[in-house]
Amino acid sequence: MITAIIAAIAVPVLFACYYKNAFKRPKNFPPGPPSLPIYGAYWIVLATEFNNLSEAFRKLSEKYKSKIIGMFLGPFKTIVINDPDMIRDMLYHEDFDGRVDSIVMRLRSYWKKLGIFFTDGYFWHVQRRFSQRYMRDGGFGRRDEDLEYVIEGEIKEMIDMAMNGPKYPAEHEMVKGDLVYMPHYFAVPFINGLLHVVSRMTLPRSEYHALWKLAKGALLFQRSSDDIGRALAQTPWLKHIIPNWSGYNALKEGNQALLDFYTRLIKEVMDTQEDSHDRHFLDTYIRTMKEDSTKGRSTFSVDQLALTCADYTLPAASATEAVLAILIERLLLQPDVQDKVHEEIDRVVGRGRLPNLDDRKDMPYTEACIRETMRLDTLVPLGVAHRATVDTKFHGYDIPEDTMVTANYMVLHHSKEIWGDPEVFRPERFIKDGQLNAALDKSLPFGAGRRLCAGETYARQCMFQVFAGFMQAFKVSTADGKPLTKPVPRLQGIINTLPDFWVRVTPRG
Ligand code: HEM
Repeated sequence: MITAIIAAIAVPVLFACYYKNAFKRPKNFPPGPPSLPIYGAYWIVLATEFNNLSEAFRKLSEKYKSKIIGMFLGPFKTIVINDPDMIRDMLYHEDFDGRVDSIVMRLRSYWKKLGIFFTDGYFWHVQRRFSQRYMRDGGFGRRDEDLEYVIEGEIKEMIDMAMNGPKYPAEHEMVKGDLVYMPHYFAVPFINGLLHVVSRMTLPRSEYHALWKLAKGALLFQRSSDDIGRALAQTPWLKHIIPNWSGYNALKEGNQALLDFYTRLIKEVMDTQEDSHDRHFLDTYIRTMKEDSTKGRSTFSVDQLALTCADYTLPAASATEAVLAILIERLLLQPDVQDKVHEEIDRVVGRGRLPNLDDRKDMPYTEACIRETMRLDTLVPLGVAHRATVDTKFHGYDIPEDTMVTANYMVLHHSKEIWGDPEVFRPERFIKDGQLNAALDKSLPFGAGRRLCAGETYARQCMFQVFAGFMQAFKVSTADGKPLTKPVPRLQGIINTLPDFWVRVTPRG
């Protein structure tokens, strides 16, 4: 009897407490879904569109009749911006330059806040500026003959592998008869190019297996979380209970290959360094670190150097190859696009030499195909989350310090007002009077503002070289010989990717 009375009182009280909490939100915060126990509004986001968070946020933005929606995702106060102009405003708003501190970030950096991606404030400012300034000496972020030459050499090996068959055991994983394995087949030029930038060293073909290990690890990492860190970010204790299911093990494993690689390389460099001159970026960093250690507030360390290299290599080993794999799928879906790319390459370059960056301005269609892929298939649909570093105002709302700020790039890239026919793959939309017209490209695949992708120029240049070189050599068709009629469902992660697949390549003679 007493139990029944207690239950009769406790249940409504608990329900009332929960109900009050569910709708509790900071004063003048954007409207949005209520919080449920443990994961807050994340349940509702998942229930709205389980396998497509950006689409879920778009729908919730419609439901709450607000371009900016606010909610708690687990412990994180979060706003999601679902409007092209507001996304731009957010990216250029200095108060939103922070990054969110979460387990997904910490587990990759010795449980500290290191690297470029996930640091902020003074530390990030110094380290990002230093890496951009001195990697430039190795050709990063600009035109550089040496770097182009290195990448061209890698493209030749990549083509040779498919044209003449594997030479080393690991290549059998990438090439089988006339089939090549997407996306990792494309990985080596991007990674070896970056290695040249930081260390003036590249791995020879006999050691490509080490680079594919990095690419596999990087892609595993990218696929094992999403921009809001999945359940693991919101309930980090899951790593102790279900390390596999929560993605914890995969994230760790994916990252470890990169850290091991750079820890070894940095040690080798330190062992052979001479004081008289800097051979490359790693030398310059280590020398600056030694000089800086006498000052009070140094941000330089060996761990930070390893994380910086890992932060540049992770996307070079995963994002760029993933974009090209999606572009290959577009060519399978729309063979006329492939014909136009071939026509342009033959007309501008011919077959006697590889396409190079001088050709880029004369090959608007090929360039536009890459841009259109990044628009339609937005690689990072929710960007990399920002954080409000102070209490601030945004479009009439009060946004408290430490709010996670997410841009829904899918809304920008699929806006009917901007693109007219956003769901159609149509590279011509970027071309006017036979030229690529930058003003027509309103997409922001690399973000904008101070947190703009630090590898945009490298990514754009290298993707052009690799794609154009590959297409000059081959015609692609499906592995089973049947026409592809609709896009394969994407795997949702930090970046959106296609499941790995084989594609048939036929030499163009
Ligand atoms: C097609 C390929 C790529 C796409 C679509 C892409 C996109 C992005 C986006 C959306 C961001 C977040 C911007 C923000 O926080 O607002 C980002 C950050 C970053 N990207 Fe890329 N990226 C690509 C390739 C690369 C490559 C190849 C590198 C390095 C070689 C790179 C290095 C970085 C770094 C270091 C950051 C962190 C910048 C910071 O937080 O200050 N990315 N990228």
